[in-house]
Amino acid sequence: MSKFLSDRLQTLKAYVPGEQPRVRNLIKLNTNESPFPPAPGVQEAVEKAAGSLQLYNDLAATELTGLLAETYGLQTDEIAVSNGSDEILAFAFQAFGGHGLIFPDITYGFYTVWADLYGLDKKIVPLTGDFSVDIRDYQGNDRCVVLANPNAPTGKALSVPELRQIVEANPDQVVIVDEAYVDFGAESALAFVPRYENVLVVRTFSKSRQMAGARLGFAMGSRQLIDDLNRVRYSFHPYNVNTLTQAAGAAALRQPQYFEKCLKETVETRQWTKARLEELGFLVLDSKANFLFAAPPGMTGEAYQQKLRERNVLVRRFDWPRIRDYLRITIGSKAQMEALLTATKEILA
Ligand SMILES: Cc1ncc(COP(=O)(O)O)c(C=O)c1O
Repeated sequence: MSKFLSDRLQTLKAYVPGEQPRVRNLIKLNTNESPFPPAPGVQEAVEKAAGSLQLYNDLAATELTGLLAETYGLQTDEIAVSNGSDEILAFAFQAFGGHGLIFPDITYGFYTVWADLYGLDKKIVPLTGDFSVDIRDYQGNDRCVVLANPNAPTGKALSVPELRQIVEANPDQVVIVDEAYVDFGAESALAFVPRYENVLVVRTFSKSRQMAGARLGFAMGSRQLIDDLNRVRYSFHPYNVNTLTQAAGAAALRQPQYFEKCLKETVETRQWTKARLEELGFLVLDSKANFLFAAPPGMTGEAYQQKLRERNVLVRRFDWPRIRDYLRITIGSKAQMEALLTATKEILA
């Protein structure tokens, strides 16, 4: 730390992303990336778009936003795109967290970091004993609500009626529903967008659309909420989604069959892996995401993670109270999951 750092940032604990080692032959199941390549047509679209990189990118991301509006049945002014969903979540925290924020103790670790970065008050509510969100904790509340649904790293999801109760109980607060993993089988709050002015649904191309490295996210909400987000964006970095990413995103949206095929395969592999881990004595939560949250039998989470690593398999662990013995295991290809299970059997033997 230099002597120049602002006082307020001296105690800030930055987010620690999952490792991204550039090592060959690693079975990388630690950051919830897709095992599948980008959709057909994405690479060609990027190559074509590269021919106009001398120009600034389209501020309105016209083609991409138009396709998103078509895909999700909304108007273009009910959608804002961003440099990964992390960026639009950060904008939303700044825009709507002025009266404070409320979110669970076990959830996406960046929520605490943004709250601290922007100096916003946060109320952190413990999940129940089985790692569920108790919706009563979010009723009679006077803060912006933030819920990842499905939650990360647990993979557990709230139903639409449960989400509705939270939305209706907070008419004077924005309810941010972070749906980074919703495509893998959870119920979406999207249908609330035209009906409730306080719902902001945030999605990403990083997981279900095979584009983590392109950095593309988007938010869907009432025209007024999207206007507010654009106010923050135009006060920070208006050209936030570059030309190549806009082209890649539009090309990906033109391949709905590929999207569905990859989802189906991931969900099937998740169910298969869950059953195999349970046969080996693991405790595995019911996941609606592209990962499993699982605790090994007869050893600590740390020991299991370390032994997997010695066998070139990377998984994620959070050294937090209540979950230190759980691993978050990304669902990769069937072959990758077979390799995980082979390594696991060796470790348990
Ligand atoms: C719950 C949740 N929200 C948002 C993100 C951010 O994704 P991205 O910035 O790649 O869109 C992640 C990434 O892992 C996540 O787990």
